[in-house]
Amino acid sequence: MSATASTGGGSVTITLDGSNKTTSMKLMEGTVGPAVFDIRKLYDQLGVFTYDPGYGSTASCESKITYIDGDVGELLYRGYPIEQLAEQSTFLEVAHLLLNGELADASSQKEFDLGIMRHTMLHEQLRRFFDGFRRDAHPMAVMCGVIGALSAFYHDSLDINDPEHRRISAFRLIAKVPTIAAWAYKYSIGQPFIYPRNDLGYVDNFLYMMNAVPAEPYTVPPVLSKAMERWFILHADHEQNASSSTVRLAGSSGANPFACIAAGVASLWGPAHGGANEAVLKMLADIGDVKNIPQFLSEVKDKNNHTRLMGFGHRVYKNYDPRAKIMSQSAHEVLKELGIKGDPLLDLAMELERIALSDDYFVSRKLYPNVDFYSGIILKAMGLPVSMFTVLFAVARTTGWISQWKEMIEDPSQRIGRPRQIYTGAGRRDFVPMGKR
Ligand code: ACO
Repeated sequence: MSATASTGGGSVTITLDGSNKTTSMKLMEGTVGPAVFDIRKLYDQLGVFTYDPGYGSTASCESKITYIDGDVGELLYRGYPIEQLAEQSTFLEVAHLLLNGELADASSQKEFDLGIMRHTMLHEQLRRFFDGFRRDAHPMAVMCGVIGALSAFYHDSLDINDPEHRRISAFRLIAKVPTIAAWAYKYSIGQPFIYPRNDLGYVDNFLYMMNAVPAEPYTVPPVLSKAMERWFILHADHEQNASSSTVRLAGSSGANPFACIAAGVASLWGPAHGGANEAVLKMLADIGDVKNIPQFLSEVKDKNNHTRLMGFGHRVYKNYDPRAKIMSQSAHEVLKELGIKGDPLLDLAMELERIALSDDYFVSRKLYPNVDFYSGIILKAMGLPVSMFTVLFAVARTTGWISQWKEMIEDPSQRIGRPRQIYTGAGRRDFVPMGKR
């Protein structure tokens, strides 16, 4: 089978050779970024599909939330550059922006903040779920289970067609996921759960639930608060990545938002995605010393070896990930403010980056540090255990996931997500009874 294409009038017309089947695909333009061909009628009119495993050439939806220019290394939330938001805004300002499309004025922001903080407590019965896990369970396993279980507790906000239900579910998720995360941590170390304190604000309350103990007073150190606020902002959204696409796909069937966010957490866990921040620290520990970098990189470059330079490379960024730049600056600031001089992990990471960026393997493939390369170094300096790194990512990304989910539900063109395949298995054949095989 072959096809002929002709262009004109902002569209491309494809005719299957030797047949009278033809289709015209309109070129759609976004505000910025590459144009896309609207292939929705392709199968109906030509009887053929497109093949794009990994979706490298496929726009799965129209979105107004986040824009990435991977060639220049630019990231915008609702049009605002990530550098400006990381420097000047709070995480809840960003949450309002992502969810509602605009920055709020002072009184609307106050109302939004109060609205979120009013939902930080977990249903007391949900507390018992934690006892069902082994103490050495990975906290991401606890996150998947307990976030999914939220659906069983909030029947009053599960009607996805009701805007008020959508709003309350979004608030509940953004507010309760930090409590679940902090309790997963407390459970793993055998300390009592610390109940939320709404007067502290979003980030400080989270750090308080993580670090306080009932036996003595605890004040969140401002250096930790500032660094975590920025860390959360940098992780809040990243357009149609694997976990956000998972949330959308799960939600496209009409599943409730709590179940969809649990699906997003599961997708985030993998080392090719959010699990990379944990994997970077493990990699740095395995390398151990600057003198071992060349040997490690030769393993990475060996095609027969499955080792990857974790925290490097990105499907969209073919330039420096702008979040990695901010993370790297932030790592230096945090270590300085915490009085940590000459952190061996940071020194090792910087040298690894320097050597990789002057190596043709990485240069020719446009592999640069991504957000995860330096993020774990900051978290480790802040005293957080490595197993919690991906959990923190999930806490921050919940805002992006729920914004993506809400946008999808409110999109009139939304349909159930149902990709097709190219079938390469056996053709039709008759069943052979056991005795004759
Ligand atoms: N180390 C070594 N080689 C790499 C790396 C890496 N980290 N990343 C990509 N490559 C190589 C591939 O081997 C491939 O080489 P080839 O053309 O010779 O076969 C080429 O670069 C293209 O790689 P793909 O795997 O096709 O790129 P893809 O876009 O599918 O993968 C990904 C992107 C998953 C992020 C990948 O770069 C990777 O595994 N990185 C390490 C894990 C990581 O840091 N993930 C976090 C991503 S950011 C985030 O989710 C928050």
